[in-house]
Amino acid sequence: MQMTNMPEFHKHIKRVVISEEEIKTAVTKAGEILSMEYKDKPLLLVSILKGAYVFLADLSRAVTIPHEIGFMAAKSYFEGTESTGTVEITMDLKQDISKYHVVIVEDIIDTGRTLKEVMKYLESKGPLSLRVVTLLDKPERRLVKLQSDYSLFTIPDYFVIGYGLDYGEYYRNLPCIAEFGED
Ligand code: IMP
Ligand code: MG
Repeated sequence: MQMTNMPEFHKHIKRVVISEEEIKTAVTKAGEILSMEYKDKPLLLVSILKGAYVFLADLSRAVTIPHEIGFMAAKSYFEGTESTGTVEITMDLKQDISKYHVVIVEDIIDTGRTLKEVMKYLESKGPLSLRVVTLLDKPERRLVKLQSDYSLFTIPDYFVIGYGLDYGEYYRNLPCIAEFGED
């Protein structure tokens, strides 16, 4: 099968930044914390597609209390690896969130623009509470005032791929987080 856009796999992996094992340990711990904090509360884990799909799947299974999951899609416009700051909510939740404690499950907070818009939107729907768990945080890159309630890993300013994060839609299936680089 000929796929013209397909990169030579692994070509853009400069080095592994966070291993599969390190991610697993951190996700298990995050699951335990959420299970304690939201015990006996109606919990809704909201994933922002597409980047957070892998993290949500693992985090949801690390949470040991009953909960629901929901999906939203927000599109950030990019020029190469730089976000242009335009954010559009392209898919909404099915749930009435006024009945839930909502935890946004994000892949990465970079400039913070996407999450800021999504939070503003969700706040307007009156959830019982609203918090953010992010797998990765790049605080150096922040352009808007925003802090995650729980970041599993803080990384410096480089572009990363894997565990849901893409470059040109590829590499989401890498089990680890790697620094992106060209040969
Ligand atoms: P924002 O700049 O915080 O609005 O980031 C928006 C989105 O850009 C994130 O949710 C990711 O999907 C994507 N993104 C930001 N930094 C990276 C990166 O290092 N690798 C892959 N995707 C990224
Ligand atoms: Mg994202």
